[in-house]
Order: sequence, then structure tokens, then C-alpha cells
Amino acid sequence: MVHWPVDGRYLDTWKALEKLYRDGRIRAIGVSNFDKERLERVLDRAEIVPTVDQLEFNPIDQEKDIRPLLNLAGIQLEAWSPLGGGSSLNDPVIGKIADKYGKTSAQVILRWNYQQGIVTIPKSTHKERIIENSQIDDFKLDNGDIDAINELDQEKRSLWYDDFFWHNPNGQKDSIDKWDDSEKFANN
Ligand SMILES: NC(=O)c1ccc[n+]([C@@H]2O[C@H](COP(=O)([O-])OP(=O)(O)OC[C@H]3O[C@@H](n4cnc5c(N)ncnc54)[C@H](OP(=O)(O)O)[C@@H]3O)[C@@H](O)[C@H]2O)c1
Repeated sequence: MVHWPVDGRYLDTWKALEKLYRDGRIRAIGVSNFDKERLERVLDRAEIVPTVDQLEFNPIDQEKDIRPLLNLAGIQLEAWSPLGGGSSLNDPVIGKIADKYGKTSAQVILRWNYQQGIVTIPKSTHKERIIENSQIDDFKLDNGDIDAINELDQEKRSLWYDDFFWHNPNGQKDSIDKWDDSEKFANN
């Protein structure tokens, strides 16, 4: 995966991954942290559609703007920080649903991912939590539960990176067009 898009470089990077894929050196290629605008630019110019886009996805950051594009293009959404880095575990709405099924808040969130067809990668350093997080096959959220969690969306990043201009090679907050490398990409 391209870990995140650096403007002015990500199209070339994608092209390099396509070459590795065509050469048979890697079996699948994908992206991470590509928002709708940058993913559209890749799709406009790519020969191979990314397999996944690994995005921050959790109850307060549901990536609603990009999901129709992912569905249309057949790109798998993979959720990083699915538990909001732990912060979503204290949400009272999720806690109530967890009590209803005799499950934990983590299990409810991961089941909510699963029922929407979202691949999810929770992290824990505790063996018992890793086991707990895998045990989501013995219950099913009803539509009311799904709707209640969907309503928690705040379109909000739970982590620090909004303040870090990570798309730009010089760390400045410039417009995407300043760093667009589509011309270079098109000529290669
Ligand atoms: N592509 C990217 O740019 C990107 C960025 C960030 C993260 N990621 C990936 O996403 C993975 C997960 O993200 P994340 O670690 O930020 O957040 P997360 O999985 O949403 O949350 C991890 C936190 O939740 C706690 N936790 C996990 N399961 C729990 C449970 N059952 N009960 C109570 N607490 C629980 C963990 O604590 P303990 O460890 O103490 O159990 C840890 O503090 C990472 O491993 C990383 O590979 C990718």
C-alpha cells in the first residue's frame, strides 16, 4: 500500500506499484489515507484499480463522502483505528447496545464494521482483548443498532493528523493543485 498520498509524488508512486504488480513481484496493490479527491485522481490515470483504501474509520469518523466512490470502483474499505484508538469504547450509545447483546463495546463496533462489509484492523497489546475482538460471530446487530451507531458520525478525525500537513512534501498547507503531478504522470 501507498501509506499516504504525498502530493506531487503519489501518482508516480502508484505507477511504480503497478509495475511491481505487472512484474509479478506483488500480488495486490492498494492505498491508504487517500481521500476522495486524491483517489479520483488515481482512478483517472491508473491502469490497475487499488484493491483497498485503508482509512481511519470508526463511529465518529465514518468516511461517508468517499464510500460511494469506493463502492462504485470496487475498492475495499479497510478501517484503521476502528475503535477510535480506544476512545469510542466509552460511548454510551455503544455501551447500551453492548449490554443488550451481552457483548463488549469493542465487539459491537467490530460487528458494525463487519455487517457493512468493512475490513477492520483493531490493535491490542493484550492477548485477552485480541481474542475478545475476534469473537463477533455469535450475534447480529439489528437495523436500529446500526442506525444508532451511524448517527454518531461527527466527520471527525480522532487523531492528531489534521494539524500536520502530511500531504505536502514541504509540510506546508498548500492547495492540492500546486503539487498535482498528473502531467508528469501522463507523460511517463
Ligand atoms: N494506515 C494508517 O495510516 C494507519 C494509521 C494508524 C493506525 N493504523 C493501523 O490501525 C491499527 C489499529 O489502530 P489504532 O491502534 O490506532 O486504534 P484502535 O485499534 O482503534 O484502538 C487501539 C486501542 O484500543 C485498545 N483496545 C483494543 N481492543 C480493546 C478491547 N477489546 N477492550 C478495550 N480496549 C481495547 C488498545 O489498548 P491495548 O493495546 O492496551 O489493549 C488500544 O489503546 C494499527 O495497528 C495500525 O496498523 C494505520
